[in-house]
Amino acid sequence: MSYETIQVERNAGVGTIFLDRPAKLNALNGTLCLEIIDAVDLLSRADEIKVLIFAGSGERAFSAGADLRELAGRTAMEQREEMLGRRIYDVVWKCPKPTIAAVRGYCLGGGVEVALSCDLRVADRSAQFGQPEIRLGIIPGGGGTQRLTRLVGSGQAMRLSLTGDMVDAEEAYRIGLVDFLVDEGRCLEKARDVAGRIGRWSSNSLRLVKESIRTALENSLSVGLEKERELFLTALVSEDGREGVRAFNRVQDGASPPNRNSTHGPEGGSDTDD
Ligand code: COA
Repeated sequence: MSYETIQVERNAGVGTIFLDRPAKLNALNGTLCLEIIDAVDLLSRADEIKVLIFAGSGERAFSAGADLRELAGRTAMEQREEMLGRRIYDVVWKCPKPTIAAVRGYCLGGGVEVALSCDLRVADRSAQFGQPEIRLGIIPGGGGTQRLTRLVGSGQAMRLSLTGDMVDAEEAYRIGLVDFLVDEGRCLEKARDVAGRIGRWSSNSLRLVKESIRTALENSLSVGLEKERELFLTALVSEDGREGVRAFNRVQDGASPPNRNSTHGPEGGSDTDD
């Protein structure tokens, strides 16, 4: 499928969506939002795809945020309709498969909000993060005050959103906004490596882990624990759960190791680089 403002690659079980308006620092216009929604839907339904990566085209930006040319002059009513019709952040957030943002260069405003909607964030040392909306007399509107607060705590969320200051990749890593920090130019490679390590596990377990952790973010501890128990039981009685536990016991009992091609065991590779 061909798009105007994004590019989609499928390789080795990983679907990569490139925000592809490099001349505009991959700013999020309406078309790009609709195309991302479409691509996430397609990749979510593709059996061979285990993990989704979001990245920016070009070297300068993951995304410089909402398209300010489009935003200018809209009434609140028009913007509300726009936001309700193009729920890019919710669609990424609710994607049932694991998602990784691979960030190089500017990651601002809506760009941060896309990254926050992902499960993991990899950044290279060129990355700069910021919530500059305050400088424009507006505030974040795509989860930038909500998901950011849950991820880095209210103090750091206040700092970023009240000052509008950018932080570099090291600082973002230090405060927990970024999960993996790599040398410049290596973020896509690292994101693919992480995606590969995730993608060797059962699709069902991945979906259930994600649902359980998302429940923690959106509910009380008691609700979360109850949900976790139910999801655990669902996993336990699944085909993958039954076979995975049986395979472990077979190995313990000295039988031959589990089939390397099964979804229940590692395919090899190093765990040492992070
Ligand atoms: N919306 C629309 N276009 C944008 C954009 C945005 N959010 N951010 C950058 N662009 C466009 C610029 O208009 C410019 O286009 P042009 O060459 O056709 O004039 C191009 O991207 C390059 O940006 P430019 O500002 O020339 O690059 P720079 O290196 O001087 O500055 C930034 C980079 C990121 C500091 C600056 O572009 C910026 O502050 N962007 C807005 C960030 C923002 O406030 N985002 C939150 C929106 S809610």
